[in-house]
Amino acid sequence: MTGKPRVWVSRPTFPDIVARLEPHFEVTAEPDERKFSPTELAARLSGQDAVIVGLKDHVGAAEVADATRLRIVANLAVGYDNLDLDALSAAGIAVSNTADVLNESVADYAWAMMLGVARRMNAAERWLRAGHWHATEFKGWLGMDVRGRTLGILGMGRIGQAIARRAGGFGMAVLYHNRSPLPEAEERACNARYVDKQQLLRESDFLMLVLPLTAQTRHAIGAPELAQMKPTAVLVNVARGGIVDDAALAAALREQRLAAAALDVFEGEPAVHPGLLELDNVLLSPHIASASHETRRAMTALAVDNVLALFGHGPHAGRPPNILNPHVLASAGPAIHP
Ligand code: DGY
Repeated sequence: MTGKPRVWVSRPTFPDIVARLEPHFEVTAEPDERKFSPTELAARLSGQDAVIVGLKDHVGAAEVADATRLRIVANLAVGYDNLDLDALSAAGIAVSNTADVLNESVADYAWAMMLGVARRMNAAERWLRAGHWHATEFKGWLGMDVRGRTLGILGMGRIGQAIARRAGGFGMAVLYHNRSPLPEAEERACNARYVDKQQLLRESDFLMLVLPLTAQTRHAIGAPELAQMKPTAVLVNVARGGIVDDAALAAALREQRLAAAALDVFEGEPAVHPGLLELDNVLLSPHIASASHETRRAMTALAVDNVLALFGHGPHAGRPPNILNPHVLASAGPAIHP
């Protein structure tokens, strides 16, 4: 026992970045990637002063019931649907995320998925690897151009805006729908036009989902919404599984009521709806939109900075940069500034 506060890191990250905690904390970092049961999680959280967790870790009232010293849960993600923010706030625990540092990487990845599926790169690569390439047909593997088409964005936060800004280079018109329209200057910077959800569904050639998962956005794209889309349209989801009804999507793709989809996230992941796995007109990836070297390091550094700052250390000492429930800090006393 060192007498230092304790921090637990639930998954392997970057040891050189986590080492910044060591002068101030007793650090336990899990050496292997794994999913903890609620009981295991509760046992690990108990006795910690701070924890850095990932999307696989579901933390709510039950998991922190014995964690009487816990002051911060730093999430290694911008989305925080794995955390019960109300329960953690009620327990007086600050919660942080990794907003902003991943915007550009996720936007790049969304575009990579959209272009990849439009030009059928996923299916063509599988075909080549399977040894089917004996001659190139002039009319083989025809895909869709994106130039001149309409890009729709559902959810126009900072990632949505980064996606929109890229569209100019591809000669695409951009429509978006959001809880409320962007301020005029931001809308102009994105060259995007606000429309209602029905118009977005009807007019998008490529529809990208960039919403957080909440009770309100669950199945925001289900059978009724898919029925409003063009049969030639392509759906791209880099946001969260559960925003799309994957069974309804698989049926729409199978019956060619929708041309294609590119999905980085799934309902109930890591399980993938079997209907999606059978289809060639779907590009699938294992929730990696933010997984570039630079961005995953930046996410780790931000989580570490939030923990350091809450305990009065590091570049943001006393002012943790990404706190989602600042009222908890306001009631924590004068040393911490929300
Ligand atoms: C996030 O940050 O929410 C991503 O989905 C995790 O990479």
